[in-house]
Amino acid sequence: MAVSLKVNGAVRSVPAEPDTPLLYVLRNDLELNGAKFGCGLSQCGACTVLVDGKAVRSCVTEIGTLANAEITTLEGLGTLEKPHALQSAFIAEQAAQCGYCINGMIMSAKALLDRNPRPQESEVRDALAANLCRCGTHNRIIRAVLRASREMGRT
Ligand code: FES
Ligand code: FES
Repeated sequence: MAVSLKVNGAVRSVPAEPDTPLLYVLRNDLELNGAKFGCGLSQCGACTVLVDGKAVRSCVTEIGTLANAEITTLEGLGTLEKPHALQSAFIAEQAAQCGYCINGMIMSAKALLDRNPRPQESEVRDALAANLCRCGTHNRIIRAVLRASREMGRT
């Protein structure tokens, strides 16, 4: 059967069953590969996307629950020519090592900055505590989120 989803502002129809995880549809049907498959068990955060502005784990989110939802993926934040402040800040702070966790870090940080544009460092740490990074670049990631917050406050 076909299911309609609103992804990055566009309505997309995908040939999938309603219990299919959103992550599979994003990567396999829509060729949106920002979200990563890490654990598949809601444990690591690599697959994070925004659903109605809230950070959710797409590996355990069934598409049948998203009929009227606005889904935003990493690809929906910015472009190569005009990156989002978070994307620019992650590059400026060289926050990625292997990069596998970075989608989840940026999308979780986006949800944080949308509800709290000037977070304290402790609030950034709390917001990203459930996103795992095996490379240990946490300090650079925290610096990048704080840098993005400052940059966004200037515009
Ligand atoms: S892949 Fe979804 S939380 Fe790990
Ligand atoms: S940069 Fe490699 S897992 Fe985070």
